Amino acid sequence: MASSSSTAAETPSSSDSSVPQAQPQQQQPASTRPVNASAMASDPAHPKKPINLLRGWPSASLPPTAALSAASQRLLGNPSLATPALLYGPDPGFEPLRGALAAWLAEFYGTPSDVERVAVSGGASQSVACILQSFTDPAYTRAVWMVAPCYFLACPIFADAGFGDRMHAVPEDEEGIELAVLEAGLRKFAEEDGGGKGGGENKCFKDPGPHRKLYRHVIYCVPSFSNPSGKTMSLRRREGLLELARRYDALIICDDVYDMLQWQPTTTTSSSSSGEGADLNKALLPRLTDLERTLGPSPHDPPGKTFGHAVSNGSFSKLAGPGLRTGWTESAPDLAYGLSQTGSTRSGGAPSQFAAAVVYELLVSGGLAAHIRDALRPAYRRRHGLVVEMAREVLGPLDDVFGGYFVWFRLPGGLKADEVAKRCQAEENLAIGTGGLFAVQGDAGGPRFENEVRLCFAWEDEADLEDGVTRLGKVVWRMLHGKPMEVAAGGAGRGLDELK
Ligand SMILES: Cc1ncc(COP(=O)(O)O)c(C=O)c1O
Repeated sequence: MASSSSTAAETPSSSDSSVPQAQPQQQQPASTRPVNASAMASDPAHPKKPINLLRGWPSASLPPTAALSAASQRLLGNPSLATPALLYGPDPGFEPLRGALAAWLAEFYGTPSDVERVAVSGGASQSVACILQSFTDPAYTRAVWMVAPCYFLACPIFADAGFGDRMHAVPEDEEGIELAVLEAGLRKFAEEDGGGKGGGENKCFKDPGPHRKLYRHVIYCVPSFSNPSGKTMSLRRREGLLELARRYDALIICDDVYDMLQWQPTTTTSSSSSGEGADLNKALLPRLTDLERTLGPSPHDPPGKTFGHAVSNGSFSKLAGPGLRTGWTESAPDLAYGLSQTGSTRSGGAPSQFAAAVVYELLVSGGLAAHIRDALRPAYRRRHGLVVEMAREVLGPLDDVFGGYFVWFRLPGGLKADEVAKRCQAEENLAIGTGGLFAVQGDAGGPRFENEVRLCFAWEDEADLEDGVTRLGKVVWRMLHGKPMEVAAGGAGRGLDELK
C-alpha cells in the first residue's frame, strides 16, 4: 500500500493560523491547496519510497470491507431498514443503531444499558463542533482547557467556535492531566467572575432554550491511549478531573476513540506484570461519564435537568473505517437530547443516517466485535511491538496494557524534532510527527514539545513501518555522531535501538 505523495502541506502552515484574517485571502492555485492535514509533502524524484509515520489513519488494508459489503446488502434487501435509512431520520440518530450501541457500550464498559444516554454523530470531530455549538457561547464560556500535548486537529474546531485565543494547555504527567495546574487556572477565572457566582461578563450571544445549557468552561482530553502521547489517565485523575468540572461548571469532552483498541505489549518493557490476563473485551477503566452516573445532580444543573459535566465522544473511524464518518456520544440523558437539538441536526436528523444503518447491521451481526478482536487488535499489537522493539532505548516503561495508534518519545541528545523531521524528509523521504504540531494552538506560554516525536504505527504496513523506524534511527545517528551508522555484519539498521 503506497503512502500518499501528494504535494499538500505537511505541517500547519499559514492555513492553520488561529488568528482571524480580516483581509481577503489570496487565491491559491487549486493544485497547491492542502487537501488534508497529514498528506506528505514528498519529492516525487526522491530515490527512496515515501514512508509516512505522521499520518494517523488506519491502514488501508484493515477496514472490514467484506463485512461492510455484506452488511450493506442485508440492509438494502430489508425494506423495513432500508427505507428509513435512506430518508431523513430522528434527531438523536437511527433508532436501531442507538439501541444496539447502548447495549454494546454497556457490555464493554460494564455499565447499565440506557438508550437515552446515546446519540448518533457524524464522527468524533463533527461531534465536537456540535457540542460547542449547543453548549458553549464565546461570550459566556470563559476558556477551553486542553491536555497538552493535544490532538492537533481539535484546535481548529475550538477556534471555529470562537475560542481561538482562549485555548489553554494543561500538561500531563504519567497519570494524565495535571490537576493542580488546571485548578489554578479555573480558580483564577472564578475569582475574576466574583467567586464563580455569576459575576463578570455574562452577556450571551446564544439562547440555549429549554433543552440545553451553556457551560462556563470546556476541558478537552483523550483519557485512554491518548493521541499523541499514548498515555492513559489513571482512575484517581479521572475522579479528580470530574470533581473540578462539577465545581467550576466545566464540560469535559472525552475523545474516547481508542478505548477498544487495546492489547498487552509484546515486549518485556512493561512497568509491572499486573495486566497479565486482562480481559481486552472490557474497558480497563471507567469513562468519565460512567463515573458521573453515581454522583447525582450537579449544583450547576438547571432545576429538573441532569446535563452533567462529561461527554464521551466515540467514533467508528478507528474501528470500521473513517470514511463512514459515523460515531456516537454517551452522556447524561438531558445532554444527549440537548445535543440532538443542535440546529443542523434538527434539519433532517442525525448526520450519516445511511452509514449509521450500515454500521447497525455490522454491529448486530457480531461482525464489528469479531473485526476488532481478530483483525485490529492483533495487527496493531504486532505493529506496536515492531516500533517498541526498535525504539527501546528512547521509550520509557510501557503500561501493562497499551493501545491506540501512536508512540511518543523524547529524542536523544537534545535533538530538535523540527531539524530531525527536515532531514528525515530530505534524506530518507520519511514523514514524522514533530512535537510542536501537538502544542495547544494559540497558547504562546504552553509547552512546545520541541524535542518530542510522535510515530503512528497504524497507517504504513509492517515492512514500511520497520523501514521507516530504521530510517529515522539512521538520521538521528548521523545527527548525533556526524557520520553514517556502522551496521554490524549481517545486521540491517536497527532503528532507534542503536542510539546511545
Ligand atoms: C483523539 C481523536 N479524536 C478524533 C479523531 C477523529 O475522529 P473522527 O474520524 O470520528 O472525526 C481522531 C483521529 O485521529 C483522534 O485521534
